[in-house]
Amino acid sequence: MRIGVLGAGRMTEALVPGWVSAGHDVLIGGRGLGKTADLAGRVGARAGTLRDAAEFGDTVLVAVLLDGLHGTLRAAGAPDGTLAGKTVIDCGNAVDIADFSQVTFAGGRSMAEEIARLSPGAHVVKAFNQAHADVWRMRPVALDGRPLTVPIAGAEEGKPAARTLITDLGAEPLDTGDLTQARHLEAMAIIVIRLLLSGADPLSVFDFSTPDRRTSRR
Ligand SMILES: NC(=O)c1ccc[n+]([C@@H]2O[C@H](COP(=O)([O-])OP(=O)(O)OC[C@H]3O[C@@H](n4cnc5c(N)ncnc54)[C@H](OP(=O)(O)O)[C@@H]3O)[C@@H](O)[C@H]2O)c1
Repeated sequence: MRIGVLGAGRMTEALVPGWVSAGHDVLIGGRGLGKTADLAGRVGARAGTLRDAAEFGDTVLVAVLLDGLHGTLRAAGAPDGTLAGKTVIDCGNAVDIADFSQVTFAGGRSMAEEIARLSPGAHVVKAFNQAHADVWRMRPVALDGRPLTVPIAGAEEGKPAARTLITDLGAEPLDTGDLTQARHLEAMAIIVIRLLLSGADPLSVFDFSTPDRRTSRR
């Protein structure tokens, strides 16, 4: 798969190595070419502009902070159709860092739906937003030998690529429905973020095993 990545931050650094190891060709696009090239060099990818990444990928990961979302999509040419016909995976969390509350767009739309609105023809899928970057760095992405379950929501056309990228990391996809379900996945992530801010271990946030299982592991 040819993967374009919009954003050269922590999520990109955590996710891309597993995809490179699986044999995918990755081009990372960032707003600062020096930082982007450094990161790309560390993870075995190529570097370019945001538009380069949008044009390169048949699958495109959007991995930017909420504040940069609109500017990034504009710089990538999304409103001009650079993402048309492509799978676009949104790992973002629409969170107001002033108080860690959820941010929604007009009509209650999620960040993923906002990406779809601004990217005509793109097949947008929400994925990877539930877990901290430290979790995505694990190889495989598993807890106590159990593959992490990764909820996805979005366009049917985009789900095969999303499933592949999840299983390539050693995790398992869980289809939660169409893109409207991204509203729930984004709300869920706010709970996760608040737990992490309270000092919880990133891995424990996803341990939904029974008390018996937890006790037996101690
Ligand atoms: N980190 C996590 O544990 C985690 C987990 C799940 C989901 N997420 C979500 O994944 C997305 C990426 O997170 P991250 O941790 O990778 O973020 P990050 O490292 O802080 O930055 C990601 C990218 O966003 C760009 N960016 C930041 N502010 C911008 C602005 N105002 N205008 C344009 N670009 C801007 C950065 O550009 P520069 O490098 O040029 O600043 C960088 O390329 C976010 O939506 C986040 O909520 C993060």
